[in-house]
Amino acid sequence: MSEPEQETRKPRIALVFGGRSSEHAISCVTAGSVLSAIDLDRYDVVPVGITHDGRWVLESADPERLAISSGGKLPEVDSTRATVALTSETDGSELVVHEPSSVPRTLGDVDVVFPLLHGPWGEDGTIQGLLEMAGVRYVGAGVLSSAVGMDKHYMKVVLQAHGVPVLPYTVITSRAWETDRAACVESVNSLGYPVFVKPARGGSSIGISKVHDIGELDEAVELARQHDPKVIVEAAAEGGREVECGVLQGFGTNPPDASVVAEIVVDPSHEFYDFAAKYLPEERTELTVPADLPSHVTERIRALAAECFDVLSCEGLARVDFFVLPDERVVVNEINTMPGFTPSSMFPRMWAATGIAYPELVDRLVQLALHRDTGLR
Ligand SMILES: Nc1ncnc2c1ncn2[C@@H]1O[C@H](COP(=O)(O)OP(=O)(O)O)[C@@H](O)[C@H]1O
Ligand SMILES: [Mg+2]
Repeated sequence: MSEPEQETRKPRIALVFGGRSSEHAISCVTAGSVLSAIDLDRYDVVPVGITHDGRWVLESADPERLAISSGGKLPEVDSTRATVALTSETDGSELVVHEPSSVPRTLGDVDVVFPLLHGPWGEDGTIQGLLEMAGVRYVGAGVLSSAVGMDKHYMKVVLQAHGVPVLPYTVITSRAWETDRAACVESVNSLGYPVFVKPARGGSSIGISKVHDIGELDEAVELARQHDPKVIVEAAAEGGREVECGVLQGFGTNPPDASVVAEIVVDPSHEFYDFAAKYLPEERTELTVPADLPSHVTERIRALAAECFDVLSCEGLARVDFFVLPDERVVVNEINTMPGFTPSSMFPRMWAATGIAYPELVDRLVQLALHRDTGLR
């Protein structure tokens, strides 16, 4: 590439989506939304799909293809497409396309990768590690923040060490469950019932149960273990209200910004914000944006959200989820380093209510990534 061309060309953004986790389809829908919102006058966009079995392919740039069809069919990455590989060169990273019976061709340098992936192999530091190895800039949290944010156990260890309030919990490892079940049960009993039993590195409420007494514990732990050998059990936030807050990294040395706070009100037919309440349109979950809370509580939530972002060394974006207890104490439930990102998801809705519309949000994330250093930061 000649020098003048390099100076004038638009930054090239690779949108990476799909992937091996159970959130493949929702990731495709997100990619479709970002493709529609990104400013093509300012950026070149390369859509890269990861198939269910982990292969990287050059996908269609047509947002329509990635939407949920009118018949309700969920989108997925087309595994028949040409394979792409991210190569690491001394002066940057390139995407190279391999088509059967033709010479590999390069799509050119990649300036930023936007990983629109949720769950394991997306939000847990693994793809972030791959991108670090390739020396390419990317949107969102780095390796450590992603991994700690994904693991509900270590997330609490780090938050607690910084004085951020979380609910009492205990961890059941596979070894403990198999060799000393009585001790596991004892530590759960000491939390008092009800408790929530969760896969430590799960998402979308999959594998989570509310356990009302000791008789329900075994089944709940076995269910969680189907998703993760490490299980976390937490005291329930009885009577608590469930609220969320979006955080965006500041430019330069500016501190992170927190959005308005939103409340999730689940239809009483659900005991908690379970998978159906989250994703099935007929389940009547109400999202109140902004939440109707006293201003001192809202300010406490926003300050804690920004604090969590810094304490976990997050970058780009995060959504921090809380419970507001009946006595107005605020506790952190979890942090998501790649929150749901369709225009109807909580994170973009909270930012829209704060004054940053979806296209502007996408742009800010790309700009933050373009301006960050590779390597140790
Ligand atoms: N300790 C708790 N007390 C009350 N409700 C809880 C508790 N933990 C989880 N829940 C309910 O379960 C839902 C999913 O739990 P969460 O920890 O957020 O897992 P996920 O990562 O799958 O979203 C929460 O949104 C909330 O409704
Ligand atoms: Mg959650």
